Amino acid sequence: MTTARLHNTPADIAAAAALLRAGACVALPTETVYGLAANALDADAVRGIFAAKGRPADNPLIVHLLCAADAVPLVAPGEADKLTMLGDFMPGPLTVILRRAARVPSVVSGGLDSVALRIPAHPVARAVLAACGLPLAAPSANRSGSPSPTSAQHVLDDLDGAIAAVLDGGESAVGVESTVLSLTGDVPEILRPGAVTPEQLCALLGEVRVAEAVLAPLSAHTQAASPGMKYKHYAPRLPVVLVRGSAENYAAWCNARACLALCFARDAQFLRVPVFCYGAETDAETQARLLFDGLRTLDTAAAALQDAGGAAKLIIAAHAPAPNGVGLAVYNRLLRAAGFAVVEV
Ligand code: TXA
Ligand code: MG
Repeated sequence: MTTARLHNTPADIAAAAALLRAGACVALPTETVYGLAANALDADAVRGIFAAKGRPADNPLIVHLLCAADAVPLVAPGEADKLTMLGDFMPGPLTVILRRAARVPSVVSGGLDSVALRIPAHPVARAVLAACGLPLAAPSANRSGSPSPTSAQHVLDDLDGAIAAVLDGGESAVGVESTVLSLTGDVPEILRPGAVTPEQLCALLGEVRVAEAVLAPLSAHTQAASPGMKYKHYAPRLPVVLVRGSAENYAAWCNARACLALCFARDAQFLRVPVFCYGAETDAETQARLLFDGLRTLDTAAAALQDAGGAAKLIIAAHAPAPNGVGLAVYNRLLRAAGFAVVEV
């Protein structure tokens, strides 16, 4: 299939909505990352998402809505009331898990009895939601396992020819996927950290737990609360190692190896390997925004080096951010990209 390139014009928004109503998959910008959307109430359309991404069928999708009232028919009686507490972040980079109504096809939620809901703030995503009048299931618009896309070009790099269209809305401002908060248990639990931080959610809800799987590999016998946590994720083609330590020690470690550095601005002066700076050490928002572009860019740079007959076995050495605030989301994605390979220097 030829993937149509659409832009933020009234005609193209209408074209995207028409494709979605007809059961096709369309990649859309959101403020977190690009999503691959399909009609959440059409099981066949949703199967198209899994096929295009190569996504395991037991990894459930997030359903995107225009407003909290749209959640009412999709969740168990009374559940939608819980969204009123979260008004500060909805619309925004927050996904909430509630008990599911039978109306949501089980393929959307990977057979679970819950459903993930998000109200995006991005004006283009909202324009498409309004134009099609449907709840839209949308995971990140990358091939399963690879870094999430933060631009239309990233989407095309992974899915050109496999989806009906990509709607270009510029670069995603947040850069990491939404915070996933489960409200199905006694205590609200963060299953995936994002731009809405544990600190912010605690201030709003009182007690909030951060799931163990955010910072630790799942042991063989524990069941994933969020199936996404059991898969290797966010990974470029090159192996990633997460390196913790000062700028000088990090650079010395990198300079002694065949690697490319995903580094902080101050590290660059000490490094003699190819670098991608993903912000200042103290600026977690910028790190989040540039993280996935950095992993993709370094992958491409390594391929060029290898084509030119350079070192055969390169790795990406990522300088580890402080794991708090938005930095917790950055740290979590890197930890997973690295398959939990962390070195202290
Ligand atoms: O920012 C985002 O969240 C982006 C944009 C497009 O909205 N979407 C996104 O979707 O990152 P995806 O599919 O890549 O990640 C969804 C995560 C997965 O880890 C999945 O396992 C979890 O949410 N999830 C979805 N439904 C769930 C449910 N019912 N229970 C537990 N976890 C769920
Ligand atoms: Mg994803």
